[in-house]
Amino acid sequence: MTNPALNIENLSVEFASSAPRGVFEAPSTFRALNNITLSVNPGEVLGLIGESGSGKTTLGKAIVGLVEQSSGSLVVNGEALDATKPSDRRKLARQVQMVFQDPYSSLHPRKTVGYTLAEPFRIQKTAERSNEMDLVQALLERVGLNPQHAARFPQHFSGGQRQRIAIARAIANSPSIIVADEPVSALDVSVQAQILNLLDELRTQENMAMLFISHDLSVVRHLCQRIAVMYLGEIVETGPSKALSANPRHPYTAALMSAVPRVKAKNKARSKPIVLKGDVPSHDAIPCGCPFHTRCWLYEQKGRPARCRSEIPKLVEQAEDRQSACFFPEDVAVSAEGA
Ligand SMILES: Nc1ncnc2c1ncn2[C@@H]1O[C@H](COP(=O)(O)OP(=O)(O)OP(=O)(O)O)[C@@H](O)[C@H]1O
Ligand code: SF4
Ligand SMILES: [Mg+2]
Repeated sequence: MTNPALNIENLSVEFASSAPRGVFEAPSTFRALNNITLSVNPGEVLGLIGESGSGKTTLGKAIVGLVEQSSGSLVVNGEALDATKPSDRRKLARQVQMVFQDPYSSLHPRKTVGYTLAEPFRIQKTAERSNEMDLVQALLERVGLNPQHAARFPQHFSGGQRQRIAIARAIANSPSIIVADEPVSALDVSVQAQILNLLDELRTQENMAMLFISHDLSVVRHLCQRIAVMYLGEIVETGPSKALSANPRHPYTAALMSAVPRVKAKNKARSKPIVLKGDVPSHDAIPCGCPFHTRCWLYEQKGRPARCRSEIPKLVEQAEDRQSACFFPEDVAVSAEGA
């Protein structure tokens, strides 16, 4: 059996809280990620969805070592890597790369594109100086750019072209997995599909895994084989894309999916969007019991079971490669009809 490209176990991240505190009080922290366990296979695209502030970017950054994890383990291609160790950091950078949302701020404005693209080879010592420029030109060609433009600066490129450069930098050393954090949401609609196609082509060619973070659920359903759903720093459901969107096993997923036009058209049972009440609670004040119970339509429909308020549902493995952190996974799809 092949190793997963990435295996995360019980990963947590804490940040300093901005909540006001007394002069003599110690600074407090909050858990932006709580015990995340996930794996992505070689060549697989795992979509990561959830409302703003649920922790998607923090998870991506923790995977590439840009934010410090307070606990948990990271195994890349069968090798356990610890981002706090300098020797592991270099291995991590070789194996795991991130493409950010904003191609305007992710490239150094005063470095030529050639310099930026040669950097991964220098850091990883994967090329002789003498053939760096050939490799840079080959990279530019692979992402659909003119190899003769290596001497230009980022401001000479459009947003879509800059994102191609960021992608070229990410794939320079053939990583095992790419974390793509909303890679097209800052781009003109006219170029979004081209960039998504490029990412998918490169992934297929290299058998690379991808963690694809997006708010666009139609794109996620189209591009990803599996989906993980985040709420308040936790994974609440995972499963194959089609099964998870057609037959969700967590009421939060059902609400997110009910807003996708294609799902509505195909599945008459969810022709009405499920409107979640209230806002996402603050990380400083996570509700007791099931963290979703304050907004859960199924909790209301089932007459507010005490268990939902007192016990934390674990992410439990179910049949058909599905996991859900709800006490009533079988009732979700059926009950969503009347929600
Ligand atoms: N460096 C940081 N210091 C303190 N808090 C942070 C930091 N980075 C993120 N947060 C907080 O952690 C939580 C998760 O943020 P994150 O950016 O990961 O969410 P997200 O799911 O990516 O949201 P979006 O969909 O808006 O991009 C939020 O409450 C955010 O304010
Ligand atoms: S455990 Fe209860 S509150 Fe939580 S999602 Fe399931 S039904 Fe809703
Ligand atoms: Mg984000």
